[in-house]
Amino acid sequence: MECSARETIRRTRAFFDERAAQWDTMISADHAHRLQRIIESLPIAPDARILDVGCGTGVLFPILAGLLDTRGCVVAVDVSFAMMRETRRRIAQLCNEQATPEHLLLQADVAYPPLRPGSFDWVICNSCFPHFHNQQQAVTAMAGLLSPAGTLIICHTESRAAINELHRTVGGVVGGHALPDAPEMESLVTAAGLQLETLSDQSDAYLLCACK
Ligand SMILES: C[S@@+](CC[C@H](N)C(=O)[O-])C[C@H]1O[C@@H](n2cnc3c(N)ncnc32)[C@H](O)[C@@H]1O
Repeated sequence: MECSARETIRRTRAFFDERAAQWDTMISADHAHRLQRIIESLPIAPDARILDVGCGTGVLFPILAGLLDTRGCVVAVDVSFAMMRETRRRIAQLCNEQATPEHLLLQADVAYPPLRPGSFDWVICNSCFPHFHNQQQAVTAMAGLLSPAGTLIICHTESRAAINELHRTVGGVVGGHALPDAPEMESLVTAAGLQLETLSDQSDAYLLCACK
């Protein structure tokens, strides 16, 4: 039986809430390094305003903190409060060690972001796109948050095939959560009013860039 959007979000949130404390030990040891390579390949300016969608335990924040100066800003959004608590810890630790960009954490479904349209130079949707209940609605919402010169990034640190196989193997709540094929991704971003610039799918990096 098809699940309602509300029920799917509830189940997704419960899935990640339950795993948040152990999450960093459950994922690939290479995740952060691969992500760093992907992010450092992007022309991110030191004063960029960035939305970290599905921030999880905050793996992206230290990478962005290495690229941004104190004029930059990172807003992290996640539906799972327990995952965001891990992000908060990670950021607090980093703040003790170095100057960090402005940051804000919000518990929210990215399909209904409580944020002003046009606020971000980059919307980075890292390792979470398959989990969105209505992927078109999520892409349209993320596109709406981009500034006129903004870029949407959808990335993973594995190939599409590996991600989809992992979710099938885990099963349960995430069993059917999939990253669509290239033609469907192109049609999702085009329908959201964006132009597809890059779609590359390799064993250690999946990267989609789409601009306004
Ligand atoms: C696989 S984890 C990845 C976390 C992190 N980006 C990383 O690379 O480790 C996916 C994250 O997306 C979040 N998420 C799922 N659906 C979401 C939604 N509709 N809006 C915001 N966050 C969502 C989950 O709670 C989870 O923290």
